[in-house]
Amino acid sequence: MNKSDQQWRVAVMPGDGIGPEVMAATCRALESLPNLELELEELPWPSHGWHRDQDEMMPADWRDKLSGYDALLLGALGDPGPVTDPNRYYLPDGVSLQPLLEIRKGLDLWACERPAVPMVGAPQYLADTRALETDLLVIRENSEGEYVDQGGRLGVGSERETATQLEVFTRTATRRIIRHAFDRAEQRRRDRQRGLRPLKSFPYGAEQSAQASASVCVVTKRNAVRYSGELWCDVFAEVAADYPHIHTQHELVDACCMKMVTQPWAFDVVVASNLHGDILTDLAAVLAGGMGVAPSANLNPDDREVPPLFEPTHGSAPDIAGSDRAHPAAMLLTAATMLEWMGESDDAAAEAAALLRQAVADDLAEKGMSGRSCTQVGEEIAQRLANTHI
Ligand code: IPM
Ligand code: MN
Repeated sequence: MNKSDQQWRVAVMPGDGIGPEVMAATCRALESLPNLELELEELPWPSHGWHRDQDEMMPADWRDKLSGYDALLLGALGDPGPVTDPNRYYLPDGVSLQPLLEIRKGLDLWACERPAVPMVGAPQYLADTRALETDLLVIRENSEGEYVDQGGRLGVGSERETATQLEVFTRTATRRIIRHAFDRAEQRRRDRQRGLRPLKSFPYGAEQSAQASASVCVVTKRNAVRYSGELWCDVFAEVAADYPHIHTQHELVDACCMKMVTQPWAFDVVVASNLHGDILTDLAAVLAGGMGVAPSANLNPDDREVPPLFEPTHGSAPDIAGSDRAHPAAMLLTAATMLEWMGESDDAAAEAAALLRQAVADDLAEKGMSGRSCTQVGEEIAQRLANTHI
């Protein structure tokens, strides 16, 4: 077993709702991994508690503070819960969730990666057993598009009230996200050739290629939202020319939702704008077994000095917050994704990632998702990890 040759400083941000619960279980598991130089530093922000005391979700110098870490691990934001507490300090979504968007944009974490692979032991919502072969990765543009937060409301409350919401799509940001999708597809192609990933065939797409062992599907709404859709397709075609071995496909976002339900196994890498990617990744999460098992990574693939933000796709679940009933699988798999990112330059982290991922998969397969408290699952995964290296 390799010993870590690198010390990793991680900002742990439990956040709100079920965030602190799933984070505690995950830190317990992370601390029981061997050979890893992981320094977990817990931050009290962003959170409702911080806002109550400081009148802001994060300190003004959050960017400087977070830039000093190697990676950021976030639990959940949104609502402090539990909903049964009438005195809970509640903030509008636009305030409580702002840090998520600010961190992604402020650190230029322009690529959001959300994989969907069905987990045995988690609910399987599709009856067709071929759905178990689903192995897709949604790459969501994370820096602009529908999320630029520009616009306003005129004549609020009046009959002439008018809201504007601007969408911004630049060639630079479009190109880098599409190129990143092809790079990921190229890695998957290589993994499939080496037998590290199951092979696939691709029924959709104009140009069928029996040889292709990886595919990128670009998603737009170019039949109605023309200008950005056409820019995305133009850039997609230009970038695709550099990757002749990768199968290509275009889907309109509405049809893509339909096909991801009827034939999810036919997709490989899917690249989409910020909003389309947001919607498709809730759908993708359900293909894997639900929000409870869906990890997420926000990265700057150009610069490993920028700390990536790892967070589950799920929210703060105020309906069950505080009851120790949330299942920590999504948070644990998110932590495994963080270790995989570290593993690109640290063999010990890569080994730890594989151990953690396997422990979560085994635990789910053996015990399923219900019937245990969050604390208990964290404890049992930690025990499983400890037993793996005796
Ligand atoms: C997500 C969430 C966020 C998003 C919300 C909470 C702002 O839905 O991470 O998918 O839309 O990006
Ligand atoms: Mn979302």
